[in-house]
Amino acid sequence: MPPLLEVRAIRKRFPGVIALDGVSLQADAGEVVAIIGENGAGKSTLMKILAGIYVPDEGELWMDGRPVQFRDVNDAMQAGISLIHQELNLVENLSVAANLFLGRERTVGGALRWLDRTAMRRQALALLERVGLPAPLVDVEVGRLAPGQKQLVEIARALSLQTRVLIMDEPTSSLTQRETDRLYEVIDSLRSASVTVLYISHRLAEVKRCADRVVALRDGKNAGGLSKAEIDHDAMVRLMVGRELKQYYPRSERVPRAGFPALEIRDLCYEGGPKQPINFSVRAGEIVGMAGLVGAGRTELAEAIFGIRRITQGEVRVAGKAVRIRSPQQAMAAGILLVPEDRRHHGLVLQASVGFNLSLPNLPRLSRFRLVQRAKESAVGEELRRRLRIKTPSLRQTVGLLSGGNQQKVVFGKWLARQPTVLILDEPTRGVDVGAKSEIYALMDQLAGEGVGIWMISSDMEEVLGMSDRVAVLHEGHLTGELQRAELNEEAIMRLATGGSK
Ligand SMILES: Nc1ncnc2c1ncn2[C@@H]1O[C@H](COP(=O)(O)OP(=O)(O)OP(=O)(O)O)[C@@H](O)[C@H]1O
Ligand SMILES: [Mg+2]
Repeated sequence: MPPLLEVRAIRKRFPGVIALDGVSLQADAGEVVAIIGENGAGKSTLMKILAGIYVPDEGELWMDGRPVQFRDVNDAMQAGISLIHQELNLVENLSVAANLFLGRERTVGGALRWLDRTAMRRQALALLERVGLPAPLVDVEVGRLAPGQKQLVEIARALSLQTRVLIMDEPTSSLTQRETDRLYEVIDSLRSASVTVLYISHRLAEVKRCADRVVALRDGKNAGGLSKAEIDHDAMVRLMVGRELKQYYPRSERVPRAGFPALEIRDLCYEGGPKQPINFSVRAGEIVGMAGLVGAGRTELAEAIFGIRRITQGEVRVAGKAVRIRSPQQAMAAGILLVPEDRRHHGLVLQASVGFNLSLPNLPRLSRFRLVQRAKESAVGEELRRRLRIKTPSLRQTVGLLSGGNQQKVVFGKWLARQPTVLILDEPTRGVDVGAKSEIYALMDQLAGEGVGIWMISSDMEEVLGMSDRVAVLHEGHLTGELQRAELNEEAIMRLATGGSK
């Protein structure tokens, strides 16, 4: 039998970039194939071609042993291919049910075309159950859902189509552990229903859990594959990066500095926060991991410290001095920097160039002498591009055209160009590939070594365990406890994160 899906020597060029350079791929019905590769390797581009979003420059697509051509998304959908985007694709001000059936509302009565609301609702509820979302959400506006819930709605929508090939582009990057486990079950049930799943992820433990086979891309080319039995972390890294990665969590001999903490929060309350005031500190030269479940209030606390949320009570001290923070500008002037979680929306000027974005926070310093500025700007930019391995044809490229992970690197990079007293990192490596991850860890280690106080908010347990000198755990906005490096282990963190005590 011919494979359900076959990609033959696909090429796709963008101005200045060859995104795909002769890539081939096959998948059978009911197979779960993980597509792995570094940021910018061409994964999303290949999937967009399969989904009819891009038309390839060269190469062929075959299904059931016959060549097919997709002019647009509808063609691909007709053929049974649906794609769940890396950047979600829902209408925020419509209900969950409306989103599930958007553009193909069920009708009865032929010419009369009454909207069959009862049937739609019934089907919507069945779909929500399948992905493990609670039934009352069916009438809620999508804009009010948590990121993980939105992701599950997208998956439910794809399930409602006659899908033969379901493509998921980094589906778990904003899911909680529970939602992720639910997704695994959905994938297993799709496999038994003979649906082919193409799955992109930078989380290698996840790939090992779900995939029947791995296909690696590197610089737009096939870089080999692994059968189920061969899938393991190091083998995947070798295929993606083309070299061994050593020293994944670097730890130089650093000692948190004595004297005033870099950041100290005393009896703090903030708008939308818990009633009970928060006390917390980060020493100079220390990396404090902040763990907790998604929704524990970590991002909100960070936003208050950075002047995005109003502080209603208490004090923030930087290097021993009380500071007044009413805006991000004031926070930055006081020596606090925040690399936000939602980088696409808060971290970048998408229409501007990579170079512009990298130098953005430094403009006041750089702009004194315009000529000097240019030279310095590009020197700093080039250095960051090299260190973080940002894949772009040049610093002049529009940042919105970079691959998802490379956009993350740009946001990260732009803050590294200046030396804060306190650096707050909210999910610093989400969506970033293994190579860049270890580069980011090395930079964090270096900054801490130079005396910067780093507050790292992270849902990635390995990263929290690997990088933190100390871990503070938040549950429903409250600090439930702190663990010193010697006391760190996954169970202790989870116990605190779910509201238990040490
Ligand atoms: N519309 C576009 N215009 C210009 N260049 C693009 C466009 N889309 C993608 N590219 C470039 O093509 C290359 C492949 O990008 P792609 O998004 O496929 O990478 P990816 O493997 O999905 O990476 P990531 O892990 O970061 O999501 C990158 O260099 C990217 O900058
Ligand atoms: Mg991508």
